Formats: sequence, structure tokens, C-alpha cells
Amino acid sequence: MSRPGDDDWIPEQLKDDVEEVLIPASRIGARLDELAVEVDRDYADRNGDLLLVGVLRGAIFTLSDLARRLTLPCAIDFMACSSYGSGTTSSGVVRILKDLDTDIEGRDVLLVEDIVDTGLTLDYLIKNLRSRKPASVEVLALLTKPSRREVDLPVRYVGFEVPDVFVVGYGLDYAERYRGIPHIVSLRPGTGV
Ligand code: IMP
Ligand code: MG
Repeated sequence: MSRPGDDDWIPEQLKDDVEEVLIPASRIGARLDELAVEVDRDYADRNGDLLLVGVLRGAIFTLSDLARRLTLPCAIDFMACSSYGSGTTSSGVVRILKDLDTDIEGRDVLLVEDIVDTGLTLDYLIKNLRSRKPASVEVLALLTKPSRREVDLPVRYVGFEVPDVFVVGYGLDYAERYRGIPHIVSLRPGTGV
């Protein structure tokens, strides 16, 4: 019998939808340990004005688990955007649904994303943030699907590369479901994907 916290634990009601655990929670945590060390080191000489910007909603667990591993002080803010388009593909037309509450002029911004797929969403967000004259804008993405990339993007910190399969869990959803699964998992064919 597995329990919450175990690497093979899936909430009972979602078990039948899950095909495979691709990245268990413990590996995500271990990778975030490493990335937090890198971020701490890279921003150590800055003026202590680091702002983590989470892209709602998929990045919330990555952002909160990263923030709790940093020794540098940081502030937190969020943006939400929608890309027009349906189902599991991105159209590239991005609309900001929730903007930052923070003025980022002169600040070091670290954009935290769940997954970079085509890259179109991030491409838009980076350009948008740069126009506000921050000291720097870098990107940390938990996952990347390099085979799907349509634009070249400077993603400074990457958790894991995943193949071209639709993944959910650890914040990522399919039609707003499965975000609470603590691992990155693939879905069984027939679950709607
Ligand atoms: P992009 O603009 O194509 O890079 O799309 C990025 C966004 O699409 C991510 O922030 C996710 O919200 C969503 N997305 C892309 N691939 C997946 C996936 O495999 N599972 C869940 N969401 C995904
Ligand atoms: Mg997203």
C-alpha cells in the first residue's frame, strides 16, 4: 500500500487515468535542490532584488518548492496568460489575463514556468517583461519538450527534458484536472488527450 509522499502514490480516484509515472516526486525535489543552488550562486552578487514570477497556474508547485529552497531573499509575483487555441496545442496568440502587481523596473526577474512546449507563450512573456526595463529576465522551466520548439528561447534553468507526450501532474493539467498529482505522469489513451 503506497501512501502520500511515496514515489508510486497516485490519488485513488485518478489512478485509472495514469499511464506511467515519468518523473516521481523525489526526483523533482532532488532536481530543484540542484537548481536552487545554481540560482543562489548566479544571483549572489546582485543587489538582492530577485523577483520570482510564476506563470499561473501550472508553475505554482515549481515556484513554491523552488522558493523554499533558496537561501537568497526573493519576492514572489504571478502572471496569468491564455493562448488562444484549444485542447493540447498552443496557438501563439497570447493574452495577459492577470498582470504583475510589482513594478519590475531595475529588478532581476526569474520567470518560472511549468513546461516549454512550442515556446510561443514564453517568447511573448519575455518580450513583454523586457519592455518594462528590468535589470534582467531569465527563465526557469521545470520541463522542456525540445522536439516541439518553434522559437529559439533562452531558458537558463531546466528541470527535465520530456519526450513529445502530453504530461500532467505537479501543477500541470489536462482540462484543469490532475494538477495535484505529486509526480509528472503520462495519461492513458482514452482519458481525453
Ligand atoms: P507553449 O506556448 O507551446 O510553449 O505552451 C506552453 C504552455 O502549454 C505550458 O505553460 C502549459 O500550460 C501548456 N502545455 C504544453 N505542453 C503541455 C503538457 O504536456 N502538459 C500540460 N500542459 C502543457
Ligand atoms: Mg502554463
